[in-house]
Amino acid sequence: TVIVLDFGGQYNQLIARRVRECGVYCEVKPYTTPLADIRAMNPIGIIFTGGPNSVYDPKSPQVDPAIFTWGVPILGICYGCQLMAHNLGGRVTEAQDDSAREYGKTETYFDSACKLFKGLPAQGITWMSHGDYMEKVPEGFALVAHSDACPNVAICDESRGFYGVQYHPEVNHTEHGTDMIRNFLYEVCGAAGDWTMGDYKETAIRQIREKVGDGKVLLALSGGVDSSVAAALVAEAVGSQLTCVFVDHGLMRLNEGDEVEEAFKKWDINFVRANAEELFLSKLSGVSEPERKRKIIGEEFIRVFEAEAKKIGQVDYLVQGTIYPDVIESGTGDAAVIKSHHNVGGLPDYVDFKEIIEPLRMLFKDEVRQLGRELGLPEYLVMRQPFPGPGLAIRVIGEVTKDKLDTLRLADFIFRDEIAKAHLEGTMNQYFAVLTNMRSVGVMGDGRTYDYTLALRSVTTTDFMTADWTRIPYEVLDRISVRIVNEVPHINRIVYDITSKPPATIEWE
Ligand code: XMP
Repeated sequence: TVIVLDFGGQYNQLIARRVRECGVYCEVKPYTTPLADIRAMNPIGIIFTGGPNSVYDPKSPQVDPAIFTWGVPILGICYGCQLMAHNLGGRVTEAQDDSAREYGKTETYFDSACKLFKGLPAQGITWMSHGDYMEKVPEGFALVAHSDACPNVAICDESRGFYGVQYHPEVNHTEHGTDMIRNFLYEVCGAAGDWTMGDYKETAIRQIREKVGDGKVLLALSGGVDSSVAAALVAEAVGSQLTCVFVDHGLMRLNEGDEVEEAFKKWDINFVRANAEELFLSKLSGVSEPERKRKIIGEEFIRVFEAEAKKIGQVDYLVQGTIYPDVIESGTGDAAVIKSHHNVGGLPDYVDFKEIIEPLRMLFKDEVRQLGRELGLPEYLVMRQPFPGPGLAIRVIGEVTKDKLDTLRLADFIFRDEIAKAHLEGTMNQYFAVLTNMRSVGVMGDGRTYDYTLALRSVTTTDFMTADWTRIPYEVLDRISVRIVNEVPHINRIVYDITSKPPATIEWE
């Protein structure tokens, strides 16, 4: 085990993620964790994270100084580096002039003789974000990296296994940052690097079993990646003690509902599929205003879920598929992020349960996918692109009807099918069809048509907050267009959405 000791920095889970990428198990612990507890975990190394404070401020987070004498290697990052220097007889002060404060990309020069930089280029970009300055390096430490502005960017005392860097090796902007972390883990801590997502799975299953005992567990399954993986994990752990309620609002893509149900057959769980298509369609009937649609769907979703949950009676635990980016987004360190804006049916207060379990809370999306594979979920579920809670209802512009949904489902399926055949999935993060409310004149055979216009939307993005439209090759667009107008009744025109976000949003409603 490697302990990531958390001093409140922005990138702490990213550090943990890098450690996992290096094939080493780690746990993030708050800096207030008693040293005895840390020792009991028998770590092979400790990483001090960054943090917003200044070490010379008496109110800043501190560590038990005994941590430096027990003989475990430590890597200090940013605040963590300064904390180590401060504790071991160095001096950290506020940078007096701007040149010693560093933010952003910084050309840095490394001493390749230091284990941390072993085998790496002697010069490269690092990502800095610090206003404090290590004025005096502690006794026994050598300077092993510098920038043009700052003579002591990295320090080390190899005899004790102590390393400190002012920059953030965990962010992508730092060249070879992960390699530096790997060097710390392998060269200094002696990690084997053989930990895998399979091990994560085993540990998580054990922890869920311990926690749940013989209690009852309830989970709302949306069919998205996160709730599916959470469900599979808990299913593997406690089997028949789990009830999954899958509210099928009839607004899913082609065959999606059946696929979700199919994927969970192999576990001995109580799988409840609430087929609520008619209910949703009747509630949506005559409604064309986007926000009204969203609201109706959100409310009905909760109502259906609640009705199913009541049938089960008292449950002990509610599982949520919250993943790490949701935790950041909602901006709270609190355990119970129940109502986040993007989870339709942000879950009910009125279902009786003791506690929420969030088994994916520490994982990034690609790690969740990896875990899903380990659990044997099919690739189409694991690789599913983001899908809005209100489903196709916000991709049918204007009033939603069963016919329009069926038209859209087929067109959307063809779009995805052709993208898959062209092997373009990797170049786009979300792609789908939108059935506009506009009709226009066309000619088919010898006859006049007056039918709907379908829009294709594809975006390339990392965070879905901003996005660019994908440059799909013309030949592929052409194949998609020809197939859709030929195979899908009532569509006689196809347009491709070439707006970025902003000013447009990804969805049309
Ligand atoms: P927009 O359209 O706001 O979408 O650019 C950004 C991302 O969020 C998804 N989205 C939703 N997801 N419930 C969800 O779970 C929703 O109500 C919702 N609305 C938009 C959208 O698909 C895109 O990935």
